[in-house]
Amino acid sequence: MDDIYGKHRARMELALDKLVLCVKELRQSIASESEFDPVEHILARIKSDESMRDKCRRKGLPETTESALTKIYDALGVRVVCAFLSDVYAMRDLIAACPDFEVVEERDYIVNAKPNGYRSYHMILRFQKGYYAEVQLRTISMDTWAALEHHLRYKKPNVRHQKLIAQELKRCADELASTDVSMQTIRDMLLSEN
Ligand code: GTP
Ligand code: MG
Repeated sequence: MDDIYGKHRARMELALDKLVLCVKELRQSIASESEFDPVEHILARIKSDESMRDKCRRKGLPETTESALTKIYDALGVRVVCAFLSDVYAMRDLIAACPDFEVVEERDYIVNAKPNGYRSYHMILRFQKGYYAEVQLRTISMDTWAALEHHLRYKKPNVRHQKLIAQELKRCADELASTDVSMQTIRDMLLSEN
């Protein structure tokens, strides 16, 4: 089967590199100004051909390049993992102000966590009349939780365990969120002493 991205793949890779470079520059600008690196790590990926085809099917879209590039917005994805909550929002503000792309959509799943406990700040960006990209900004705690939840989603425990696991996961998410707030408070106190 042909690559769903067709002749676009090479240009998509360039666009993704450009976005990552931009995020790294913004990271550097905060780090040199505040002497605190706001970012723990950055991941970037082009959604695999297989996952993109799955997603088209799930959404009832034809498995075409057009669907992949204009109906689905996360063919390009960047995840920015930060140490502190304030870093997530500082990076969000700088990314939103970047002239290379416009912000098409934003979802604050930190203020409005999903019912299962998922938290992250999502932005859909669009390069000037070009490709869309999804940026996920989150703290290390949120990232740890999402990785575990993602992993468990593909395991199929019996129904009774499933309910218990979902409850426990939700509890962990809420405890981690509360710890993020406490860590932020400690950091703010340390900073205010300087
Ligand atoms: P998609 O059809 O998956 O794009 O959903 P959507 O368009 O409603 O977007 P949403 O903002 O809900 O999710 C986009 C991405 O965020 C997903 O592809 C995941 O990477 C991540 N995500 C969203 N919800 C969860 C969740 O409950 N658990 C985990 N581990 N990741 C999630
Ligand atoms: Mg999405």
